[in-house]
Amino acid sequence: MASTYGAAQVLVASNRGPVSYAVGEDGSLNAKRGGGGLVSGLSAIGSDADALWVCSALSDGDREAVRRGVGEDGVRMLDIPADVHADAYNGIANSVLWFVHHMLYQTPLEPVFDAEFRRQWASYETYNRAFAEALAEEAAQGAAVVVQDYHLTLVPGMLRELRPDLRIGHFSHTPWAPPEYFRMLPDDVAGQVLRGMLGADRLGFLTQRWADAFAACAERFAGGSGHAGRGARAGADADFLRKRSHEPDVEERMAALREEIGEGRRTIVRVDRTELSKNIVRGLLAYRRLLETHAEWRERVVHVAFAYPSRQDLAVYRDYMAEVERLADEINAEYGTPGWTPVLLHLKDDFARSLAAYRLADVALVNPIRDGMNLVAKEVPVVSDAGCALVLSREAGAYEELGEDAITVNPYDVTATAVALHEALSMRPEERAERSKRLAAAATALPPAQWFVDQLEALRG
Ligand code: G6P
Repeated sequence: MASTYGAAQVLVASNRGPVSYAVGEDGSLNAKRGGGGLVSGLSAIGSDADALWVCSALSDGDREAVRRGVGEDGVRMLDIPADVHADAYNGIANSVLWFVHHMLYQTPLEPVFDAEFRRQWASYETYNRAFAEALAEEAAQGAAVVVQDYHLTLVPGMLRELRPDLRIGHFSHTPWAPPEYFRMLPDDVAGQVLRGMLGADRLGFLTQRWADAFAACAERFAGGSGHAGRGARAGADADFLRKRSHEPDVEERMAALREEIGEGRRTIVRVDRTELSKNIVRGLLAYRRLLETHAEWRERVVHVAFAYPSRQDLAVYRDYMAEVERLADEINAEYGTPGWTPVLLHLKDDFARSLAAYRLADVALVNPIRDGMNLVAKEVPVVSDAGCALVLSREAGAYEELGEDAITVNPYDVTATAVALHEALSMRPEERAERSKRLAAAATALPPAQWFVDQLEALRG
């Protein structure tokens, strides 16, 4: 047990923190602050002086900041050795655990739990222990700690042993795999993950479906279901989005996009991190099918697809990105004409351009294989100028809230997705605007930080 307690009353632990550093050419460190629900959640809970965010150093700049002792109040970055972090983050979290919860494995190649996996698993344990120890050191007597996501499943159990006085929560932003899929993990590893999480006083998930799946796994493989519940569902930040999407840089990008799209054409918009669960390839196949079966849309529609790089250290993510690019080129070669490019694919992350596309969207395509929530589905209706129709996968967490006014699809069914796209494009403008309004209302029913505030209240209560 820690001999002296720290000062923080509220602690958050996550792999990715609220700030990152880059080393400038002159050797200076430039900080870049992130936004998002957690950042606003933390500021919503009051006195920042008592709050601490523990995260990993992710870039060379971050590691340099730790070495130089540069940092922000309320943030502690852990300089975990780069190879340990790579094993834990790339190897275990974003390969194995991400793939299990999103059910992405494809036999006969994967998964293979071999010696390499065991080495990576040991790093995952080391990485989780570094978080548990830092939290144990920083937390005041009886403090509340909220641990985030699949990177840190062992932390609640480890921290409980070090500091039985703490109130510990864990929140998952991903789906949770059903028992029949989860059990493909080696038995000891599955048990460690579940018991690690059950070390928390309270477990939060974005939907009841994911909470139930966790409880089923815990009952079958760890002999207890814990206090798993649905957290308040994450909302879209309407005020921020509406204001930000009318700033000059967004207007500029709208003009450029309009030029690229061409006069009088409908737009089907998608914006994703390029990552296998997002199902971008089947989205493109559905769009190709639409052009094939509904010749009337040729020249009259453009698919604006923003597929931003994600987790590019991993070959499987890079290959997926290449496949997206190849297919978009193929569709353009097959159907394009001198005055019309059917697919406008952009691969470089640009938030202002994403907002510009949201504003221009007639149809938003959100078709993940599985998704914890999916915020794009919530953001587009809030921002779209004329109202957009939403084609939404029934496997996204957002389906629970938006299913009624969206056109919902089975993400594996390319034919049905093509039909849904046609239906969305053909929707009368008045109906589209009405549905879009209801979607926006549902998406913003809760303040964006509510899920986090609720987690804390439940822990303290
Ligand atoms: C998901 C996870 C987050 C993660 C994000 C981006 O939303 O739930 O924990 O931060 O993806 O992934 P990255 O690997 O870039 O942090």
